[in-house]
Amino acid sequence: MSTEVPEYERNDAAIRDGIDEEDNKIPLWFNLGFYGMIVVGIVYLVYYTQSGWSSAGQYEAEVAVAEALAEEVRASLPTTNVFAGNSEAIAQGQEVYTTTCAVCHKPDGSGMVGPSLVDPYWKYGDSDEAKFASVAEGRPLGMPPWLAVLGNEKIWKALAYVDSLPRSDAPGVGSPDYQPPQP
Ligand code: HEC
Repeated sequence: MSTEVPEYERNDAAIRDGIDEEDNKIPLWFNLGFYGMIVVGIVYLVYYTQSGWSSAGQYEAEVAVAEALAEEVRASLPTTNVFAGNSEAIAQGQEVYTTTCAVCHKPDGSGMVGPSLVDPYWKYGDSDEAKFASVAEGRPLGMPPWLAVLGNEKIWKALAYVDSLPRSDAPGVGSPDYQPPQP
């Protein structure tokens, strides 16, 4: 590096104890950086406060896009059981039902921990769509959600199996009119 550094004239220039006090000119690169950052700061401030952009707004826009997508997917889900009456699917559904549902709803569907699935009473509705929602999303009083575990197809097949079980006309377990058997 050159030792030739431009200097201002100083009236009080003095050498004390052999130490020469100097007042160097600020180099151009430093001033460019310094005033440049002030300009950047002003531009940033104006942009941030005036452009209408905000991280919360960006988040809401992204959520809106995701909601629209989820709505589209929901709308494209089948609302009737395409496996109804399909004996092969019902046999596969029986396997799912026996391993996953029977512990709570009993192998014959008459109910135990969970309500009867073969009586006329349906707390959450008896349409295919309502039953699918009961199983996929779960219900508050102890029905776990199964969508992540089983996926759409196995749920529909298990429900096709439930629909194929012999039905009962009497109010079953979980129905408000249920009468426990007298000993
Ligand atoms: C851990 C016990 C348990 C398991 C396992 C279970 N359920 Fe349930 N299920 C319940 C309970 C408890 C309810 C009642 C929930 C409520 O009333 O909020 C219920 C409710 C339901 C309903 C709604 C009934 C109505 O009256 O509207 C359906 C349909 C159903 N279960 C089907 C199934 C199927 C199919 C499976 C297997 C994939 C399954 N359940 C596994 C406990 C269980």
